[in-house]
Amino acid sequence: MTYKIIEHEYDVVVVGAGGAGLRAALGCGQSGLKTACITKVFPTRSHTVAAQGGVAASLGNMSEDKWQWHMYDTVKGSDWLGDQDAIEYLVRNAPDAVYELEHWGVPFSRTEDGKIYQRPFGGMTKNFGEGPVQRTCAAADRTGHAMLHTLYGQSLKEDVEFFIEYFALDLIMDDGVCRGVTCWKLDDGTIHVFRAHLVILATGGYGRAYFSATSAHTCTGDGGGMVLRAGLPLQDLEFVQFHPTGIYGSGCLITEGARGEGGYLTNSAGERFMERYAPSAKDLASRDVVSRSMTMEIREGRGVGPDKDHIFLHLDHLPPDLLHKRLPGISESAKIFAGVDVTKEPIPVIPTVHYNMGGIPTNYHGEVVTLKDGNPDAVVPGLMAVGEAACVSVHGANRLGSNSLIDLVVFGRAAGKRAPELVKAGEPHKDIGKTAVEGHLARLDKFRTASGSTPTADLRLRMQRAMQEDAAVFRTGETLQQGVNRLAEIYTASSDIGIKDRGMIWNTDLLEALEYDNLIGQAVITVNSALNRQESRGAHAREDFPNRDDDKWMKHTLMWLDTKTGAVTADYRPVHTYTMTNDIAYIAPKARVY
Ligand code: FUM
Repeated sequence: MTYKIIEHEYDVVVVGAGGAGLRAALGCGQSGLKTACITKVFPTRSHTVAAQGGVAASLGNMSEDKWQWHMYDTVKGSDWLGDQDAIEYLVRNAPDAVYELEHWGVPFSRTEDGKIYQRPFGGMTKNFGEGPVQRTCAAADRTGHAMLHTLYGQSLKEDVEFFIEYFALDLIMDDGVCRGVTCWKLDDGTIHVFRAHLVILATGGYGRAYFSATSAHTCTGDGGGMVLRAGLPLQDLEFVQFHPTGIYGSGCLITEGARGEGGYLTNSAGERFMERYAPSAKDLASRDVVSRSMTMEIREGRGVGPDKDHIFLHLDHLPPDLLHKRLPGISESAKIFAGVDVTKEPIPVIPTVHYNMGGIPTNYHGEVVTLKDGNPDAVVPGLMAVGEAACVSVHGANRLGSNSLIDLVVFGRAAGKRAPELVKAGEPHKDIGKTAVEGHLARLDKFRTASGSTPTADLRLRMQRAMQEDAAVFRTGETLQQGVNRLAEIYTASSDIGIKDRGMIWNTDLLEALEYDNLIGQAVITVNSALNRQESRGAHAREDFPNRDDDKWMKHTLMWLDTKTGAVTADYRPVHTYTMTNDIAYIAPKARVY
């Protein structure tokens, strides 16, 4: 097939316009770099818009707080898989990143004396585990929405050039160096080659590899897919977060802020069962703990509803004016998606896939790293990743609620600071010929002309069901091996994919096939990484290996995919057991109880 190809040259190209992408793009724009931001959806429709409860920073507006306490909670939440230098970077920069958002216009909720309102969230404590702290800065329960709109406005002010409804196909790689990205413009079918000194991937997670997820349908891990095709590894994909309170049936998110404001969970006996599993933190234990407890209640026959297969979240004891002021969004979602009036009835909820702790490995500047010649921190020149697409790793084996929005802005900002150190504005681009781009177009052609008998939707559904059943809240060697086998079969069956629409303009048939191709690689790596890791840590709960094993497994999984065959290769990177500065000592592992 022949394509109309349009060439562009930028200092920096950011792929993705969610919170992390916009924060990175505006930082690059501020420093005078010619910056493009490519996005498959309109920026304010990026998945950050769905973030509800808030953004964590130790401002201490409502109760005493310190970055050291935030660091302790994050390390403990990560079940000691987080890199402590990166965690120190995150928590120390969090307050400045939030004040910056405030000054740019994020309409945070306010205290009586006009400060940013903060609510308690799971696993966030004062004085190194002594009880809840109000650390999560909130704009009612629409914090991501407020942040995204503000960041988009600020990016436009910094002259970031937006390419909206462009789908990124592949990275332009030249002997291990990233030199740009190839895209398909969805509304006119043209192909765009963006040459850049730096590509920053901010493409979000791959939650849609599962059947039921709080993630938008656009969360198809497009950056992770491109990285795998570039021959680079992904890190720690076995760690998939289930949010305790997705609405039963629809998977729509009910913020953890609901429990932060006083909501609680009950089983069929009306019992507040979290008191048994987490006597101190109760309903505000970390997400992996709450999701496992809910699953145990359901398994042991104490679920609610006709099939005893979900749990109730109560807000009906809270004052209606509080619900109206602090939780208006989820009150509306509960009405629409569960038919529930939260002032009178409990919301039916179930643990639902919410977040990928793993992703594209980076250091805390946002630079993509890989294992090369024995160096586990070898930087991939020209390539950065931020946000959920990346694995810095600050969340380790389990992310604390509201540490995602702060991750987006702290590491988006870090990438914006690092970029001008790596790239000089206006530097000429190396001519690397057409070979790389021809490979990208050959892949596009393969899908566009695919005449097999299996629609993408069938393959996707098989993948989603296998992931939901075999890589669930609880896993065993048996379920994971079954997942590995099923995913391998589906990967092979993908060669029989059939596309009906041969056009290039708004060809959603082709788009969904390309998105599925990004998802399936990450699904394969998730089940293989999970089968390999013979321990339980954070969100990875192996019933056949119920304990954490620091001697053998305090290390990050790296996994590569042979995209031709679907075969995987595993290796490991050590966890960073050192801090960024001498201001705080390494927090040594101990039992994780809430
Ligand atoms: O529950 C929530 O509001 C989600 C927050 C998060 O994932 O950080």
